[in-house]
Amino acid sequence: MQKDTPEFEFKNRIIEPAKNEEEMDDRETEFSLRPKTLDEYIGQERIKDNLKIFINAAQKRKESLDHCLFYGPPGVGKTTLAGIVANEMGVNIRITSGPAIERPGDLASILTNLGENDVLFIDEIHRMSHNIEEILYPAMEDFGLDIIIGKGPSARSIRLDLPKFTLIGATTRAGQLSAPLRDRFGVVLKLELYDVLSLTRIVQRSSRILGIACEEEGAAEIAARSRGTPRIANRLLKRVRDFAQCDNFSVITRDIADRALKKLEIDKIGLDETDHKILKLIIKNYAGGPVGLETLAAAIGEETVTIEDVYEPYLMQIGFLSRTPRGRCVTDLCYKHLGFERPGTD
Ligand SMILES: Nc1ncnc2c1ncn2[C@@H]1O[C@H](COP(=O)(O)OP(=O)(O)O)[C@@H](O)[C@H]1O
Ligand SMILES: [Mg+2]
Repeated sequence: MQKDTPEFEFKNRIIEPAKNEEEMDDRETEFSLRPKTLDEYIGQERIKDNLKIFINAAQKRKESLDHCLFYGPPGVGKTTLAGIVANEMGVNIRITSGPAIERPGDLASILTNLGENDVLFIDEIHRMSHNIEEILYPAMEDFGLDIIIGKGPSARSIRLDLPKFTLIGATTRAGQLSAPLRDRFGVVLKLELYDVLSLTRIVQRSSRILGIACEEEGAAEIAARSRGTPRIANRLLKRVRDFAQCDNFSVITRDIADRALKKLEIDKIGLDETDHKILKLIIKNYAGGPVGLETLAAAIGEETVTIEDVYEPYLMQIGFLSRTPRGRCVTDLCYKHLGFERPGTD
């Protein structure tokens, strides 16, 4: 792939919350950074409290845990939490994803191979095809699998009993889940972006695991630029570590973190060059907006979907950008952060 295509840049964008190629390859580090118990899992207190109760109750009844749906933005710990639930329940976890289950037979073989009370984790469950979903309904509800034997007039359906299991679904887009599927989850939990304090603790924990000393202020500096996302926090920590080791610093201080992240062109609140480009364009060329998405995309040289799915969510989240019926507008907060005067205000 050519270096200057937008796709290339976007995939390697350091503050992209989805997994990048390096993280897919380096499974060992990824695994070691993942908390294994609820107590190690930082933040999301309300969710942890709920899960503790559900897990405890299920164990007392010696039953499988209710089916759980975890939804929230990429990189906030959905997969991690599924692993923790299985671990705390003391059962095995089988991991797959919506798009990976192509034929009904694929799902049937996964289901029939589960052990009693095991966890089946389906990532990106909103991308599961409809005919597969239909197989899942009786499996979730009655722990049964309907299979058709024979063809034509002599075909008949028989029901196989499945072990009691817990389905954990994860999705970034709960709204795309069909209502019948959503209704079959007994526990639905929404994971939120993390505050800076929680992210600071995550950076400190990860630095201990990676074997690099990190002062609290250094961790806080990284946390503040991680866009509320643990995956980004860990990624920035690794880059700062490279920078520190390259210059023979043995401890990550605030100053080192700051200099490393400046070099990576990530500003104090985690915005990168493209974020700045988008915001400045709206300010300078369109007096703060509104400007249509297509116009914006053409001016930046990106696809409209990339702007919508990759860049806008965080800018809207922090209250810098708003979508109006007439187009995109930047807010006063954004003017202030970038140091521009809004036209018409004294
Ligand atoms: N609550 C947490 N405490 C500590 N580390 C976390 C937490 N949540 C996520 N992480 C880290 O962030 C990374 C991304 O989490 P992951 O579960 O893969 O996110 P998701 O599945 O939501 O995209 C994990 O490798 C893990 O190390
Ligand atoms: Mg995941």
